[in-house]
Amino acid sequence: MSLRVLDHPLIQHKLTFIRDADTGPKDFRALTEEVAMLMAYEVTRNLPLEDVEIRTPMGPARTKVIAGKTLAVVPILRAGLGMVGGILELVPTAKVGHIGLFRDHDTWRPVEYYCKLPPDLAEREVIICDPMLATGGSASLAVKLVKERGGRTIKLMSLIAAPEGIALVQKEHPDVDIFTAAVDEALDPNAYILPGLGDAGDRLFGTR
Ligand code: PRP
Ligand code: URA
Repeated sequence: MSLRVLDHPLIQHKLTFIRDADTGPKDFRALTEEVAMLMAYEVTRNLPLEDVEIRTPMGPARTKVIAGKTLAVVPILRAGLGMVGGILELVPTAKVGHIGLFRDHDTWRPVEYYCKLPPDLAEREVIICDPMLATGGSASLAVKLVKERGGRTIKLMSLIAAPEGIALVQKEHPDVDIFTAAVDEALDPNAYILPGLGDAGDRLFGTR
């Protein structure tokens, strides 16, 4: 079980503008993609490599490529969609699965409405992405759905995590590594992250 807070200055700088209430959907989307790409660089650090023989203009060379099938990127709808493009910029051969969840307004429990995942999940490293890890209910259910479809190596990528969400995922899925750009202070009475960035789905898609 591990928690990595990716505190690279570029990530922290861009996250500040993502949080800013004056940032509109166009910049919010662009910045979310950029941060997701920067985070993906670290999240993929342990992808296995294999040797290949190639020819450079100078002659034969033995060098490395990523071994086997690469990634499955699984955004939690809606807000996770904002991170997919940035990850695909780095790993264009990744397959993309989608898990649709929304939080019930009264119980905050996640409600599943869609699940379409690549069939070969067991052979891929799976990156589940969602900008917000609040109570952790959505992320934890998404991990469960991925495991039920064969996923074995699973990483969770969020922009902002609350201590409560981290604790729940670590309790229910101690085998999943969590990557985030920030661990915030707490949840408000409506289970929104403080100071957070507000409602990620609404800010991405302008549905406030
Ligand atoms: C938000 C967010 C996460 C979830 C986090 O989704 O995008 O999926 O809440 O909260 P949790 O950790 O307490 O489960 P929301 O339900 O607002 O749906 P949306 O992305 O479609 O707006
Ligand atoms: N979902 C969001 O979009 N933001 C939060 O702060 C919590 C859940």
